[in-house]
Amino acid sequence: MDFRQLVASARTCRRFHEDQPLSVNDLEWLVDCARLTPSARNAQALRFVLVGPGQTCQDLFAATRWAAALKDWGGPFPGERPTGFIAILAPQEGGEVLAYDTGIAAQTIQLAATSRGWGCCIILSFDRQKASALLHVPQDMKLSLVLGLGLAKEERLVTDLPSDGSTTYWRDAQGRHYVPKRALADLIVGRY
Ligand SMILES: Cc1cc2nc3c(=O)[nH]c(=O)nc-3n(C[C@H](O)[C@H](O)[C@H](O)COP(=O)(O)O)c2cc1C
Repeated sequence: MDFRQLVASARTCRRFHEDQPLSVNDLEWLVDCARLTPSARNAQALRFVLVGPGQTCQDLFAATRWAAALKDWGGPFPGERPTGFIAILAPQEGGEVLAYDTGIAAQTIQLAATSRGWGCCIILSFDRQKASALLHVPQDMKLSLVLGLGLAKEERLVTDLPSDGSTTYWRDAQGRHYVPKRALADLIVGRY
């Protein structure tokens, strides 16, 4: 697949084929992709926790918040929930720079997942205390992001911003998920 096409396809996914779970080996492959990404000072300070199908996956799911903008939808229903998670841990004292490493790792995992037909939701809105206890996050590390993963079930499409300029995503009557993205001309603010 052309790289731009891959990026366009790599929309956040929030509904999955729960009956076709990813394996822990699949999650490991995703982290192996993240392993090769750029890192400030090449410190590679991030650590990853793999959560395959099972009770911990269900408990972690219960600690996560999905699609705040879809007011009439509280997150994926049973049967459409993620079948795995990757949690990204960063050293407590690592400073702001680790947010860059975390973002690069997360997006790489999202792209890698998309390349195999899997879906990924990067999640920052979660019960940090509950999730950290569940995953036994060491005292000197913090849980930066969790990524919900599974075989993608929902159709997701990039669209232009509506005339009112809203960037809020929405679903149509068929359940297709639309993600408005700004026009290229509105993003490039200088040319020399
Ligand atoms: C740093 C970050 C945090 C996010 N946190 C959440 C979250 O807690 N829950 C959720 O459902 N989506 C979350 N998302 C997904 C965004 O809502 C999504 O990226 C946005 O709606 C644009 O859709 P797209 O990823 O398909 O381009 C997060 C994305 C990023 C990059």
